[in-house]
Amino acid sequence: MTSDIRSAQSAPDTSRISISAHYTGYVWYRHGLSEQQFVTPAGRFAALALAPVNAFLRLVAGADIDTFLLQRHQVIDHLLTELIEKEGVTQVVEIAAGLSPRGYRLRQRFPHIRYLEADLPAMAARKAQLLATLETGPEHQVYACNILQPEGPESIHSLLNKLNPVEKTVIVTEGLVNYFELPVIRAVWSRIASGLKRFSGGYYVTDLYPDFADHPSYRYVKFAQKLVGFFTRGQWPLHYPSDDAIHAGFRQDGFSHTEVHDPAGFYDTLALPRARTRTLVRLIRADVNDD
Ligand SMILES: C[S@@+](CC[C@H](N)C(=O)[O-])C[C@H]1O[C@@H](n2cnc3c(N)ncnc32)[C@H](O)[C@@H]1O
Repeated sequence: MTSDIRSAQSAPDTSRISISAHYTGYVWYRHGLSEQQFVTPAGRFAALALAPVNAFLRLVAGADIDTFLLQRHQVIDHLLTELIEKEGVTQVVEIAAGLSPRGYRLRQRFPHIRYLEADLPAMAARKAQLLATLETGPEHQVYACNILQPEGPESIHSLLNKLNPVEKTVIVTEGLVNYFELPVIRAVWSRIASGLKRFSGGYYVTDLYPDFADHPSYRYVKFAQKLVGFFTRGQWPLHYPSDDAIHAGFRQDGFSHTEVHDPAGFYDTLALPRARTRTLVRLIRADVNDD
């Protein structure tokens, strides 16, 4: 109990980031990937405020914010679907779920899976209320979790304790990891990897925006970086300069196998919106399983 209180006091408050969930939640809705219940006035307002920025980016970079959000969202959905259908995953833990409709949609398609959503306490409470209106059922739950808590009731460890270790399990994070400096998020990745080892199969899926300094639209990436930082009152650092560096980092953090996916590889199969230049986001599927 004492250690819970100590860790609760020491983890930084990153709730300033939560505003971004309102915007992404609205993007999923306006592209037909969500339900009206997931839309908030703040999301609608952010979409209006960002409309000129999106128009500018389409003109100069051939893709706007929605393009990259949709690419990551749809490829993550695809990777999770494969894990459920081909690997037999039955437990999904979506950390920093925000106003994502993923749990609601996946459970409609795969009613046998258990789905835990987690976010900072205020966002988790809001999401729980929202899901209650959709009557999502007892196998779909929402918990407060702060990824920066190494231990205690709001830690990743505590979240995983709610699950059955015999079942294959995937943790997913979307739109989260680039809000933290690399050493901070690597400590989280290490905790995710060690936490997943208790399951009969343990997987992790995430998006990641790397630091591709030679990208033709790099100056617009730096612009987007400042924009996200402005809205969320913090930094939005890019991580790793190459796919090879991502592989090496994930291995060091405790994952046995890592796949790094470029959304362009799914242009023909998933009907993704296309960017005129090279893509900017990577989707990662890693696991902690033996060969
Ligand atoms: C950009 S939103 C992404 C939401 C959703 N995954 C999506 O893609 O639409 C970032 C989310 O991270 C959550 N978040 C911020 N700091 C966090 C932390 N320390 N632990 C857990 N979640 C956090 C925010 O509350 C917010 O819901």
